[in-house]
Amino acid sequence: MKNIVVLVSGGGTNLQALIDAQESGLIRNGKITCVISSKADAYALERAKKHGIKTRILIRKDYPDVTEYSRDMLKALEEEKADLVVYAGFMTILDELVTKAMPNKMMNVHPALIPSFCGKGYYGLRVHEEALAKGVKLTGATVHFVTEVCDGGPIILQKAVEVHDDDTPEILQRRVMEQAEWKILPQAVSLFCEDRLEVKDNKVYVR
Ligand code: GAR
Repeated sequence: MKNIVVLVSGGGTNLQALIDAQESGLIRNGKITCVISSKADAYALERAKKHGIKTRILIRKDYPDVTEYSRDMLKALEEEKADLVVYAGFMTILDELVTKAMPNKMMNVHPALIPSFCGKGYYGLRVHEEALAKGVKLTGATVHFVTEVCDGGPIILQKAVEVHDDDTPEILQRRVMEQAEWKILPQAVSLFCEDRLEVKDNKVYVR
């Protein structure tokens, strides 16, 4: 059974999708053993507690820089014996000290079809604002392995979502979550836990 540690910073709807998938038996051979938040007031922490999942708080603002923060995060992940780390709305870019220690063992959900609308500064609602400003007809979500390049790691799963003429960033964000993120994140976690993801030449193959 693989230990899954989920990193959060906000509302935690993606964490909820993982909890629901776990409780309905969709994630075999893996268990969410700990949720770590970068913010003390993240609602995601309440979701974890409601389901009896251990929580830890590692506040980014308490650290002078990302390297110090990453050092303590790595320590926490080692203490939790994490086999898989999932960024579920986790808004801090960790130092390569962490990503290099866990190659192809950390995944992130991003609310766009990478390589569109991604990289430093593209997070949360901002991604959807940019997609609407560009006038794209399709957007979506991507789950990818985390490397030292922000949103640049091997792509595991993607799902497209239609953009409507009268969308606001909030409406589009909700549709992308419902139709894409909450589906492909649990799927990717499930595939990982069943050892069905193989990375070769920066590409992911589902076996
Ligand atoms: C989600 O849309 C997630 O894809 C995005 O933040 C939201 C968090 O929602 N993450 C990023 O933008 C990371 N670059 P949640 O806390 O309800 O899961």
